[in-house]
Amino acid sequence: MSLENTKKAVKNVEYGLEKIFEGAQDFLPLLGTDYVEFYVGNAKQAAHFYKTAFGFQSYAYAGLETGMKDRVSYVLKQDKIRLVLTTALRSDSPIGEHVKKHGDGVKVIALWVDDATSAWEETTKRGAVSFMEPTLEKDEHGEVVRSGIYTYGETVHVFVERKNYNGIFLPGFETWESDYNPEPVGLKFIDHMVGNVGWGEMNTWVKWYEDVMGFVNFLSFDDNQIHTEYSALMSKVMSNGNGRIKFPINEPAVGKKRSQIEEYIDFYEGPGAQHIAVATDDIINAVTQLRARGVEFLSAPPQSYYDEIPARLGVHMEMMKEDIKVLQSLSIMIDADEEGYLLQIFTKPVEDRPTLFFEIIQRMGARGFGAGNFKALFESIEREQAKRGTL
Ligand code: FE2
Repeated sequence: MSLENTKKAVKNVEYGLEKIFEGAQDFLPLLGTDYVEFYVGNAKQAAHFYKTAFGFQSYAYAGLETGMKDRVSYVLKQDKIRLVLTTALRSDSPIGEHVKKHGDGVKVIALWVDDATSAWEETTKRGAVSFMEPTLEKDEHGEVVRSGIYTYGETVHVFVERKNYNGIFLPGFETWESDYNPEPVGLKFIDHMVGNVGWGEMNTWVKWYEDVMGFVNFLSFDDNQIHTEYSALMSKVMSNGNGRIKFPINEPAVGKKRSQIEEYIDFYEGPGAQHIAVATDDIINAVTQLRARGVEFLSAPPQSYYDEIPARLGVHMEMMKEDIKVLQSLSIMIDADEEGYLLQIFTKPVEDRPTLFFEIIQRMGARGFGAGNFKALFESIEREQAKRGTL
């Protein structure tokens, strides 16, 4: 990322914080990401994959055995990250319809709040379409209030108020005890989650996050910055006031060949979550383990990319602890901004449709998103698109 962009980004965040702390009260205080729920074709097998390949731990379960009649959900946990994998038990289910249309994908990006009723009232008042009215759920461990609104496509934000609950996950869920418990790989929390929207829709959703959720535009990249010889996209990063929640929004841009965002929209059959970036504090160890467990990553940038690292990192080269040769052997990419550097790598899509993938990121001071890596990354994605005949 250029120095100018970084300065702009820092200013934007400061402006956002000022607006919230000095101006009107933050009408949607968010404490963090609560969970991410996938609608999938076979939750039992998906849960096995995320345990075996990504090191998630068995955490909670709801299904026929716990009194759930229409669905099964497995909750997996790794440090602060909670994934919920849900499958319909019958054909006449909106969950099944979602999977039929989109394939396996993210349905719910749940946000942890103090007051789910107020979150729903404030956002629907500002134009959000309701997904779920504030609903009280209780069991012997207390009560939870959840509410929800639609964001891009069929994706939703569910607000979770759990201050009066001390059960394992949500009412209706039981602890999931398993005899099969592969070790975690050191994934800590969700750093950001990216949404792909259609042609010309990015600014509509940027405005939606500003107006409906009180977010600020933290960083912007246009197609002059994000392009290769063949394809292009545009991206704006939205952040809530305390910076805990970051949602970049991408739209396709015109290039000589098909944008990766367009490929996503074609196969997901609409807008949706493109990638989940998970933070680690030891990316070398995490990626070494993930590779050994069968996670597939995008191919390495060329030698010239790694040769240019010392020049690109400049002053941050001195504080860099990792050996570039080791990073290169794992195909990990490196970028820097004014405040530090970051290490990142992207998996191939984790479903048969070329849709959702994961990013593993280790921040060493940098607050950006690896803009300096975009070209190398997109060239790698294009090599995969070419194999699929979708470039
Ligand atoms: Fe990312």
